[in-house]
Amino acid sequence: MTAVGGLFPATTMPDRGWWRALWPDPDGTLRALSITAEMTVLDLCCGDGWFTAPLARLTGGKVYALDLDPAMLAAARAEVATAGATVRGWLAGDARDIAKLLHKKIDCALIANTFHGVPDQTGLVRAVARILNPDGRLAVVNWHTRPREETPVLGRPRGPHTQVRMTPDQTSAVVEPAGFVFDRVIELPPYHYGALFRLRSSSAS
Ligand SMILES: C[S@@+](CC[C@H](N)C(=O)[O-])C[C@H]1O[C@@H](n2cnc3c(N)ncnc32)[C@H](O)[C@@H]1O
Repeated sequence: MTAVGGLFPATTMPDRGWWRALWPDPDGTLRALSITAEMTVLDLCCGDGWFTAPLARLTGGKVYALDLDPAMLAAARAEVATAGATVRGWLAGDARDIAKLLHKKIDCALIANTFHGVPDQTGLVRAVARILNPDGRLAVVNWHTRPREETPVLGRPRGPHTQVRMTPDQTSAVVEPAGFVFDRVIELPPYHYGALFRLRSSSAS
């Protein structure tokens, strides 16, 4: 596999085998995150499309998907096609450039299994805030801060190093300064949570 410069640390796409075992019901995950059919959604750092395809089905194609790795985008395209779905746009680039790459407003941005590796997390979500509608939402899916040895899948420890995992409070502490208001945390068993935010209407970011 060719290394792609600019990737956030500790955000390599996991092998499909254990990812499927960990996330057997991506449609249910999207419902738990309160993503609905009416929304236009950005799948930021979409990887191989594990959540992109169900998002495309759920929203009738009102999806934009971004990844820095062209191989991941190709895999995600194939996943969406296999699902018989479509998206509005595939964006090849750095997530930090989202406001330059996407010139449409969206209702919800999803960043799953990637936020822990972002060096300037407030800066990233500040960029996301620029492409959200006034009542827009942000959903961040993170691993809980359990030690890596305690989060096995298919018999082996999985996920990012213990040190980079974030609590919901730590996530809020870096997201809210970018112009968001914390909404709630939902559990995504066995090892994840979703932290949900709304754009602050008076956001000056
Ligand atoms: C762990 S995978 C998660 C994929 C997907 N969100 C999921 O949960 O199944 C992280 C993805 O982020 C992408 N990524 C890493 N750094 C990035 C950056 N700076 N800009 C855009 N994508 C990036 C990687 O290429 C990889 O596909």
